[in-house]
Amino acid sequence: SENKKRPVRVWCDGCYDMVHFGHANSLRQAKALGDVLIVGIHSDEEIAKHKGPPVFTQEERYKMVKGIKWVDEVVKNVPYITTLETLDKYDCDFCVHGDDITLTADGVDSYHLVKAAGRYKEVERTRGVSTTDIVGRMLLLTREHFRRGEREYEVERRQSTSLGLDHTATVPFTACSQFLPTSRKIIQFSEGMEPQKGDVVVYVAGAFDLFHTGHLDFLKKAKEQGDFLIVGLHTDPTVNRYKGSNYPIMNLHERVLSVLACRYVNEVVIGAPYAVTEELMSHFKVSLVCHGSKTPISDDTDGSDPYELPKRKNIFKLLDSGNSTTTETIVERIIKHRITL
Ligand code: CTP
Ligand code: C5P
Repeated sequence: SENKKRPVRVWCDGCYDMVHFGHANSLRQAKALGDVLIVGIHSDEEIAKHKGPPVFTQEERYKMVKGIKWVDEVVKNVPYITTLETLDKYDCDFCVHGDDITLTADGVDSYHLVKAAGRYKEVERTRGVSTTDIVGRMLLLTREHFRRGEREYEVERRQSTSLGLDHTATVPFTACSQFLPTSRKIIQFSEGMEPQKGDVVVYVAGAFDLFHTGHLDFLKKAKEQGDFLIVGLHTDPTVNRYKGSNYPIMNLHERVLSVLACRYVNEVVIGAPYAVTEELMSHFKVSLVCHGSKTPISDDTDGSDPYELPKRKNIFKLLDSGNSTTTETIVERIIKHRITL
């Protein structure tokens, strides 16, 4: 009889600050190079030493990485330079990183040891997205004020008149998305599974802009309500209408990938109607519709409640994510962080 082959264990490490779909895409590619994916995450202290303090705490960063569906294990507090001892300690065959150079504070390539040992593989970095770029988009919306030696900030209320609707469209007010979405990328991120007979289908909808721990906690709760979770994502102009002049920060295509990378999500509706309609519910055989109690429900354009129908049918439920992080609090946090740097 044939011996069962030992699973190939793949190692990734990094800061994973403001986790975005570029990070998710690198983890997806890494997982495809083996069987089990272990991700090491640097502590706040280690990141501060090598590139300045992160925006998100280590606890938040661990949580976001764990939420990505290709990740099997997370290792906390790993050193900035990846050593053979680290790979051996976690029984990993090799280390995977994007095709960009990561340097320590002393200008040393963090991966020189694993490269020299032939235990390093490279994956393609996702063009058009980075933490720096996302922070830049948020800062573009802001104007700093200096008053009595105290720095304040204010969000600029510039209303854009040209909201694009096609794939070349940029995010309202920031005009800096350079991400080129393709159907191949969406397929790579998708599960490609349909609900099984008898599955309870749960539907939620929202902006899911700057995918964060609040979203993650909410989607976990929503998934627990049934077997198959469908997330409806509103278009950029719709989000813009109810969230105000500065949103969304991430365009629809980017938001789709971030939500698809989440381990609790089975399917995404790209450009879902704001109101939950009869057609939508019957098409997807929805048994339950949920919304988080931590955020308000905005009226539809005609002043009606977007959840009127599921409420009337008694299949609507408010869920408490137990997390008060919102897209807005993240923007505030980044602006404050940038000002104190
Ligand atoms: N990564 C990627 N594509 C991006 C951004 C990051 O493939 N657009 C990959 C990196 O190459 C690395 C992993 O994500 O393998 C974790 O990287 P991290 O240390 O968090 O990333 P940075 O390179 O600092 O990411 P960013 O520029 O977004 O801060
Ligand atoms: O605000 P947004 O449309 O992105 O929210 C998507 C869903 O996540 C909503 O149902 C919202 O109530 C929920 N949420 C939550 N807790 C948070 C943030 C969002 O339950 N902290």
